[in-house]
Amino acid sequence: MIAPIRVGVIGVGYWGPNLVRNFYSLPGTECRWAVDLDEKRLTHVQSMYPSLQVSTNLHDVIDDAEVDAVVLATPVDKHAEIAIAAMNAGKHVFVEKPMASTVEECKQMLEVAERTGRTLMVGHTFLYNSVVRRIKQLIDEGELGEIFYVNMTRVNLGLFREDVNVVWDLAPHDVAILEYLLGEHPIRVHATGNDFVQPGIEDVAFIDLEYSGGRRAHLHVSWLDPNKIRKVTVVGSKKMLVYDDTSNVEKLRVYDKGVTKMPHYDSFGEFQLSYRYGDIVLPRIEEAEPLKTEAQHFLDCIREGKRPLSDGVNGLEVVEVLEASCRSIEQGGVAIELNGVGSHR
Ligand SMILES: NC(=O)c1ccc[n+]([C@@H]2O[C@H](COP(=O)([O-])OP(=O)(O)OC[C@H]3O[C@@H](n4cnc5c(N)ncnc54)[C@H](O)[C@@H]3O)[C@@H](O)[C@H]2O)c1
Repeated sequence: MIAPIRVGVIGVGYWGPNLVRNFYSLPGTECRWAVDLDEKRLTHVQSMYPSLQVSTNLHDVIDDAEVDAVVLATPVDKHAEIAIAAMNAGKHVFVEKPMASTVEECKQMLEVAERTGRTLMVGHTFLYNSVVRRIKQLIDEGELGEIFYVNMTRVNLGLFREDVNVVWDLAPHDVAILEYLLGEHPIRVHATGNDFVQPGIEDVAFIDLEYSGGRRAHLHVSWLDPNKIRKVTVVGSKKMLVYDDTSNVEKLRVYDKGVTKMPHYDSFGEFQLSYRYGDIVLPRIEEAEPLKTEAQHFLDCIREGKRPLSDGVNGLEVVEVLEASCRSIEQGGVAIELNGVGSHR
């Protein structure tokens, strides 16, 4: 029998219990510890998972020689410090998105992962979502043709955070989806945003990303919107699609719609565009809980020594875009060139 991978989860506030649930229930793993500074959170998770050991001191996990992996769901400003301490103690690390607060911290984490030979994975949950994976397949198989642009909306009312702005809270998902779908790092970013409710913490932001060859992406993230919207539109030269993550059914619609310039015309008056209004297809997609797929992938990577799909380099690429977006917001929307930290790959 294969020995179980023993896991400790650090940070069981809002999101951490979801990670505990998955690591607790997956075969081949043993969720041993839950750590939080807040005892009420520990009482809560222990009431659901009585065999968990709990502590307010993260060194109980990091120094436990029987723990193989640490799963981190603390606020982002703690990610680098705890992940580095854990890897230096020989633990594999799964860290929630965003990987860290700065590109510099991400580079330090990558360096420690490299030196210690530990698996470092970032919780870019949507890379483990079956709809996003189907979209990737459609793009890679050329079904949509050349991709012109992507438009993404991730808005709702709240939850207002005090530790990070809306860019660091919501945009990691969209930036990670874009890196995955387009397989390319943007070359330039410009962004604007406002702090309407909490001074100094932007609650709404509009981010524009430019890619080589003129492709574009636009992201709207907000904690200040009457409706919960999670929508991605991908427009290609052959087809277009809309992914609505809030829909219970029909999350993905592929539109055989497009526009073609007629090849020959004699005068401007005869200039014509031909519009195509074809079928709308709703691909059948087997849905699985993305977090379960993600947790299983972490365990597989540890066992097989594989590089995670959302590895430290992917985490660094996303943080570079977030950091540049915030710099652009501070400077009133000026374009910030990205220097392609993705060259780490
Ligand atoms: N993948 C996703 O879809 C998703 C969704 C929500 C949040 N997240 C990420 O999860 C992380 C946590 O977010 P959250 O919303 O749960 O935050 P939260 O503030 O609700 O919870 C964080 C917890 O960490 C604890 N903590 C802080 N410092 C600690 C320390 N030194 N040792 C032990 N515990 C400590 C806090 O007491 C708190 O209970 C963030 O990185 C966030 O971006 C990811």
